[in-house]
Amino acid sequence: MAEIVIRNTNERISGEENVREFLKKQEVLYEHWNMDKFPADLQEKFQLSDEDKQRILDAFDPEIRDLAARRGYKIWDIITLSESTPNLEDLLQKFEEVHTHSEDEIRAIVGGKGIFIIKGSEDVGYFNVELEPGDVISVPENTPHFFTLMDNKQIVAVRLFIEENGWIATPVADPQFQ
Ligand SMILES: [Fe+2]
Repeated sequence: MAEIVIRNTNERISGEENVREFLKKQEVLYEHWNMDKFPADLQEKFQLSDEDKQRILDAFDPEIRDLAARRGYKIWDIITLSESTPNLEDLLQKFEEVHTHSEDEIRAIVGGKGIFIIKGSEDVGYFNVELEPGDVISVPENTPHFFTLMDNKQIVAVRLFIEENGWIATPVADPQFQ
């Protein structure tokens, strides 16, 4: 289950109800998938073949199609990152810049861990959302944010897009970011 850290105060919010309530107030979609459906032989595997990726997409096909029907996504894929990803450090450096997109950025974490840093309301400021398998999150369009890995540097996630071009990052130089 996701946990929140408010960066200005270091306050940590945990527990399903508290996390859901906080994210709802911040207009961040948060849902949770049942990970029992994840193919057992792909657990803890972070170098995935196209066939492996398709098996994961097939396992969660009803959840993906449900999200797509509700929210207008047209295409989806699997992204995986780990220390075996070529140029991982360069990629992470590029990721760790505050930016926005003209469509929402939705990720369903199905392996490893990840963290979204999101700009909240004026009274909250930036907050971290620490994500684990089963967590589904969507950063609203035009909301400053970035995504990065946690210490284990491993993730497998489903991405959904309304149109792939909508996900072009626009950098934000925000003096309020800390
Ligand atoms: Fe983004």
